[in-house]
Amino acid sequence: MEQMQRILRSAVRSGCDRNSCMIAFGGGVVGDITGYAAASLLRGVEFIQVPASLLAMVDASVGGKTGVNIPEGKNLAGAFHQPRAVLMDLDLLETLPDRQARAGWAEIIKTAAIRDIRLLSLIERERAALLAGSPSLLTKVVERCVRIKAEVVEEDERESGLRMILNFGHTLAHGIEAAQGYGRLLHGEAVAVGMVFAARLGEGLGITREATADRLEALLAAFGLPVHLSKLSCSRILTAMGRDKKRGPRGLRWVFLSQLGEALIRDDVKPAVWQAELKKFIKGK
Ligand SMILES: NC(=O)c1ccc[n+]([C@@H]2O[C@H](COP(=O)([O-])OP(=O)(O)OC[C@H]3O[C@@H](n4cnc5c(N)ncnc54)[C@H](O)[C@@H]3O)[C@@H](O)[C@H]2O)c1
Ligand SMILES: [Zn+2]
Repeated sequence: MEQMQRILRSAVRSGCDRNSCMIAFGGGVVGDITGYAAASLLRGVEFIQVPASLLAMVDASVGGKTGVNIPEGKNLAGAFHQPRAVLMDLDLLETLPDRQARAGWAEIIKTAAIRDIRLLSLIERERAALLAGSPSLLTKVVERCVRIKAEVVEEDERESGLRMILNFGHTLAHGIEAAQGYGRLLHGEAVAVGMVFAARLGEGLGITREATADRLEALLAAFGLPVHLSKLSCSRILTAMGRDKKRGPRGLRWVFLSQLGEALIRDDVKPAVWQAELKKFIKGK
């Protein structure tokens, strides 16, 4: 919020008007805050996304969700504001630190897991080439992810239905991020852990086809992503999840896979059930 104010004040001081256009050049954090500043400045000016991280390219820069965190939770202040354009240059990724690149892979694997089993199989098969940075393969994967996200958002911009599937792995991830005070696990890393948990919970409930969680976990681990959670206090995660704004009429909203490539939403999982599963998951079964 403090940074928002700095951006808005400097925009006004430098003479921005309704015809001004902001450019978000950076990772997802820069994109989210710039988009929110653009949505707020003079009740809305245009903006362009130039994502520089893998995660921002495949996910954060597309779809028009903008916002900032507040101490009470992730993205609790924000707006839907579509960028005028999203420009990507994969060469920017040459300077992206490895750990950040892996966090981007978590959202790529998420996109494949909820919507495209062929993409998931391609990533499994070509893992070595992808990690070595093969430009043609990476272009193909990034393009596919952007198309999937754009398709989903076109159908449901305001997240009243289908768009919720993009939150696969995010129910627990947001709890982890809020409980740790942002920053220890990267967003993508928390999502990786959250996806494994959602897949295990789904299998336990009989919603998710057996062996899905193992396959997903193996792929995430192969990309160097965390798949377990041991050090965080469970009660802090539970408190943070209690504040999650993603609730349906019946309770906390979970995205499950029926199988790899297909997602569904449920808000009727009893708190006692997912909480018991979470305690088991944190202790490592
Ligand atoms: N709006 C959405 O729909 C949406 C979707 C997914 C994630 N997000 C948000 O995006 C954020 C995560 O984005 P992120 O992973 O890009 O994190 P980030 O913005 O924190 O960037 C990660 C780090 O990499 C650096 N960096 C970025 N590009 C670089 C490059 N090309 N070379 C060298 N360093 C570079 C950044 O300075 C930063 O230190 C989270 O806050 C998440 O909530 C938003
Ligand atoms: Zn995410």
